[in-house]
Amino acid sequence: MTRPVRGVRGIFTAADVDAAIRPKNRHAPRQKLVSIENTANLGGGAIWPLETVKGVAEAARRHGMRLHMDGARLLNAVVASGIPAADFAADCDSVWIDLSKGLGCPVGGVLAGSAEFIEEAWRFKHQFGGAMRQAGIVAAAGVYALEHHVDRLADDHARARRFAEAIATVKGIRVAANEIETNMVYFHVDGTGQDGATFSRRLLAEHGVRIGVVGGPMRAVTHLDVDDAGIDAAIAAVRAVAGG
Ligand SMILES: Cc1ncc(COP(=O)(O)O)c(C=O)c1O
Repeated sequence: MTRPVRGVRGIFTAADVDAAIRPKNRHAPRQKLVSIENTANLGGGAIWPLETVKGVAEAARRHGMRLHMDGARLLNAVVASGIPAADFAADCDSVWIDLSKGLGCPVGGVLAGSAEFIEEAWRFKHQFGGAMRQAGIVAAAGVYALEHHVDRLADDHARARRFAEAIATVKGIRVAANEIETNMVYFHVDGTGQDGATFSRRLLAEHGVRIGVVGGPMRAVTHLDVDDAGIDAAIAAVRAVAGG
């Protein structure tokens, strides 16, 4: 069972963990693990402050729980904040990073933890049918990405910020451009008199630009395959579809 914890832009605190602890009795699940997502997707790609990670880790330990960091975009957080991945990971029992997404691999992720934990994870992977022979060719792309595609995440962040600042001036578009820390831009289009689904369809059909809808707002994500010309095209498309 999972128990979602509310936070600010996807980031919760030690006090939030304390408040999410259930009474220990036969009716409640035993709480074993706290999981944090860095960067927080629905938080707009927000970076967990290091002190908050440490506080949550301390709270988790106090309650006899482990801490997992879903760091699918941890390296975005690293490049944007200047905080080394090792520092973010230091208080976590396990950490996940994605080699796909911003790092540009077609597939792949890495799970890190103690030798004992990884031994168990390996076994679970096999139990779920995850055995894969000849995986080296896939892993090679991951090694390449770690060697060549980490520092360039800064370009993705600059492009996301440029996109946000440009569409913030379009009538009917709402976006918190000053909150863009990494590679995600959530924005609202209801002020244009269209819903997100319509807006998204028109961006693709009329301009060849793909921006999806996540819940209510739309979400634009920058990554290895989006260059400056792509950002220019996306800005022009949003402006045209918004009608201004
Ligand atoms: C936060 C987060 N964690 C984990 C995953 C899983 O990654 P993968 O698709 O590489 O299994 C995703 C994928 O979208 C994600 O967004």
